[in-house]
Amino acid sequence: MTAVISLNHVAMVFPALQGLGSVKALEDVNFEFRENEFVVALGASGCGKTTLLNVIAGFLPPTSGQVLHKGDPISGPGRDRGVVFQKHALLPWLNVIQNTEFGLKLQGVASAERRIRARENLALVGLSDFENYPIYQLSGGMQQRVGLARALTCDPDMLLMDEPLGALDAFTRENMQELILDVWQKTRKVVFFITHSVEEALFMATRLVVMSPRPGRITHEYKLDFYNQYFESGNARQVKSSAEFIAMREEILSIIYGEERSGLEP
Ligand SMILES: Nc1ncnc2c1ncn2[C@@H]1O[C@H](COP(=O)(O)OP(=O)(O)O)[C@@H](O)[C@H]1O
Ligand SMILES: [Mg+2]
Repeated sequence: MTAVISLNHVAMVFPALQGLGSVKALEDVNFEFRENEFVVALGASGCGKTTLLNVIAGFLPPTSGQVLHKGDPISGPGRDRGVVFQKHALLPWLNVIQNTEFGLKLQGVASAERRIRARENLALVGLSDFENYPIYQLSGGMQQRVGLARALTCDPDMLLMDEPLGALDAFTRENMQELILDVWQKTRKVVFFITHSVEEALFMATRLVVMSPRPGRITHEYKLDFYNQYFESGNARQVKSSAEFIAMREEILSIIYGEERSGLEP
């Protein structure tokens, strides 16, 4: 099966600034995102998660190595990769549906078709009744759902999400995890999702990568199926409180804390 995105020996070094040394934000990252995968990257702050996402999005050219989309080198941002940011990046002077169809408008898609596609995706994220609302009247979770609908409306192959739930309260966050999994199950986009919540990572990932800092790299990889247990039972709390889930959570936490401690040694 061809990879949707392949990373070959990707490195990113930020040059030295104002007396500070250069930063190896990524070193020798090799990874393939395959069809239908929901890949979650987990790691302490500063381990290069956002840098990796920016390289895949095409916002940052890597210092060395290659990023391929279906075998072709990427040369910048593209419609095939939709981005959902931590804090929604919606346009406050446009309402919900105008924000959702904004990418299509930029692409020159005719207004009737834009509406149809935007409505389909607002329905997917449960916002059909809110299409004429101004953005400021929505809760944080709803704003993130508009961000997701907007990215989906351009029909990318892949969704890139950098801590999209990081600013939400715990209850909304859990609901959003389920909503995103449900949307993924329906659309089967390849997802790259960043979080620093171990529970969120374990619950959502088909494949989990753990990253560690200085230099930023992938140190562990797990194939998981807690998401599938959720699809089968419909009960997220039951999945997250199972003995198997808790054992895995503790294993991952000990890896992350172990790496943090070793990173602090002189
Ligand atoms: N534009 C930049 N210039 C210089 N250093 C940067 C830049 N962006 C990120 N870094 C550094 O690269 C490392 C990885 O950052 P980042 O990818 O944001 O980590 P994460 O998202 O995992 O918290 C950090 O040490 C950070 O300070
Ligand atoms: Mg980050």
